[in-house]
Amino acid sequence: MLLPGPEALEVQRRRTFAIISHPDAGKTTLTEKLLYHGGVIHQTGEVKGKSGTKAVTSDWMELERQKGISITSSVMTFDYEGLKINLLDTPGHKDFSEDTYRVLMAVDSACMLIDVAKGVEERTRKLYDVCRLRNIPIFTFVNKLDREGKAPLDLIDEVETTLKMQCFPLTWPVGIGDRFRGIYNRLTKEIMIYDQRRENVGDVMIMKLDAYNSSAWKDLVREDIYQQTLEELDLVEGVLPKFDVGEFLAGKISPVTFGSAKQNFGVDVFLNFFCQFSPGPQGRKTKTGLDIDPCEDNMTGFVFKIQANMDRRHRDRVAFIRLCSGKFERGMKIKHSRLDKEIRLAYSNQFVAADRETVDIAYAGDIVGVNDTGNFAIGDSVSSQSRIQFEDIPKFAPELFARMTVPDAMKRRKMQEALLHLSEEGAIQLFVDPNIGMQDPIIGVVGELQFEVLVHRMNDEYNLEVKLVRLPYTVARWPRSKEGKPVDNLKGNFTIYRDLIDQPVILLNQEWDLHWAVKENTEVDFATSISRAR
Ligand code: G4P
Repeated sequence: MLLPGPEALEVQRRRTFAIISHPDAGKTTLTEKLLYHGGVIHQTGEVKGKSGTKAVTSDWMELERQKGISITSSVMTFDYEGLKINLLDTPGHKDFSEDTYRVLMAVDSACMLIDVAKGVEERTRKLYDVCRLRNIPIFTFVNKLDREGKAPLDLIDEVETTLKMQCFPLTWPVGIGDRFRGIYNRLTKEIMIYDQRRENVGDVMIMKLDAYNSSAWKDLVREDIYQQTLEELDLVEGVLPKFDVGEFLAGKISPVTFGSAKQNFGVDVFLNFFCQFSPGPQGRKTKTGLDIDPCEDNMTGFVFKIQANMDRRHRDRVAFIRLCSGKFERGMKIKHSRLDKEIRLAYSNQFVAADRETVDIAYAGDIVGVNDTGNFAIGDSVSSQSRIQFEDIPKFAPELFARMTVPDAMKRRKMQEALLHLSEEGAIQLFVDPNIGMQDPIIGVVGELQFEVLVHRMNDEYNLEVKLVRLPYTVARWPRSKEGKPVDNLKGNFTIYRDLIDQPVILLNQEWDLHWAVKENTEVDFATSISRAR
């Protein structure tokens, strides 16, 4: 059954996206400006809480502040042009890539933010690759036009060759750096003149043109800037076909806009294009191949993020659920697919910047944070009617390993419990030697910073003074038969560990050992990731 008309419209007006970028490209600045246009904040500086306490929701973010990085990711919601936009923040630091990958599983489109001077940077490329795995549509916003940078044609060429994705400039800059004088909107044929001295960000002179090469705007900018822009536009307009929304929605071309997030110039233009072209919630496939229509009245969703102790005053744990279909109501009962049990979702939050608001009703496309008493793990699926399981959220092979010790033997059990919590949250992975069990698990992480955060959180949230004893492993692999079944016996002298879903894993010192394992066991696949859902 489908939702009744007005509620189906609610689903269709949802837009859920994330910004992907390299640290320092201006993600926070752009986010602030988007929230400003969405009417959520009335001045900037409220997202990172640089100077105040606005965004400080947990003490372990202290570490984040000290390091000047964004470790956690949250969801920001605002209304714009009749749409309800959910912007999922992605953590900026490379060590938290796994968390970011999970966030990208929960969006319907992405905005790739590029610093005009730096071009496509390493982290952007990696995140872009994840978006490509799901073929999600990607907008490109070229930022910092008020600073010197690469020529726009060169930059577009760089994006196309590095990412092997065709670009379609929707706007074109008039000058750059000191000579930055505005933006030409190729679809509306409007020229927007940039005046750095303007007092109000809304004070922008916009002139509608018959064509880009009209002489009507000639006198508004310096002759050489005018001429150069015309030359560039001659090329762009001459070469490119019409903008094909279908190609964009299929993830084949990326519409590009230019601007300066800091100067709040071009951000509203991007936002308008976003509203015009971005897709609403899409159908999602279950493991059994069912395609769930977002407008179905069966409320379905999956957990893509778990975060403990977001607010010290509450000492809680929040499971973030991306709703895939139907209507969510606070207090509703859902079927927890993995545990095969019914759970009441009594507390639910939506997040605006760092504030949380109780949400009574939400629709497919929305993210709700539900209070979790230990029922949820990343990748869990929920539904209000029959049990379903969405496709897996991949788990990545850790590259750093350690055991943890606590000087006070009485606190050993508490440490084990804390490790379990944090692994369910996806902050670490645990591996056990079947002969020893959970008493002394091996901890695996993807990046160094994860270890630092782990020790900090053990201390801060669980009041445990712990030490990490590093182990020499650098490789973890899940041995599978060609049919995908777990393999428990390997030729060669390999210890088989177990992960927390009882799957066999081998931990190796170096890649060379892996080559050896592969050579000795030609009938076995050594998987780098396996499903998180049980
Ligand atoms: P991130 O979240 O992607 O890491 O980047 P963030 O927004 O924190 O921006 C990184 C730096 O780039 C900031 O400067 C920010 O002001 C600057 N920036 C962002 N967008 C633009 C832009 O359009 N033009 C220019 N010129 N700069 C931009 P900062 O020196 O780190 O901080 P602050 O000067 O804002 O205090």
